[in-house]
Amino acid sequence: MVSLTDEMIHAIREIKVFPLATASADGTPNVAPMGAVFVAAPDTIWIMDNYMNKTMQNVKENKKAALYVYGAGVKGCFQIKGDVSVVSSGEQYEKAKELVESIKPGLPKRSLVILSITEVFSCMPGSDAGKKIL
Ligand SMILES: Cc1cc2nc3c(=O)[nH]c(=O)nc-3n(C[C@H](O)[C@H](O)[C@H](O)COP(=O)(O)O)c2cc1C
Repeated sequence: MVSLTDEMIHAIREIKVFPLATASADGTPNVAPMGAVFVAAPDTIWIMDNYMNKTMQNVKENKKAALYVYGAGVKGCFQIKGDVSVVSSGEQYEKAKELVESIKPGLPKRSLVILSITEVFSCMPGSDAGKKIL
């Protein structure tokens, strides 16, 4: 696992929507917008499953996932890759449910996708394009 820098954590807090990429067991890719995305710890991102469909199916059969962080008010662009686990009970799930409820009440909060970060790459154009940062 790798730990995001303070600057990266700040960027994630600024961005409202993240494209979350997953793939099925046979490698069919899928990307979906996710807003309930939180830095739980420098090496861990939480994503609340409110309305996931193919995404949830994919992470159940293939634990690899990726998202990118880019948008207004954020310096740079970076891709986060990691291994996913899914929980629908326990301390992390309850904490995430409270967090989501406090921001946007009434969402289903069916389960929590926990992304354990393994690698981070730059996605800024230029000489460092695609290079591994962490
Ligand atoms: C701006 C935006 C933010 C969203 N945030 C979330 C989210 O945090 N969690 C979630 O489960 N669905 C979220 N959704 C809904 C899913 O993206 C949507 O249900 C999508 O169809 C799921 O696709 P899938 O079949 O690829 O999983 C969001 C949708 C939009 C447009």
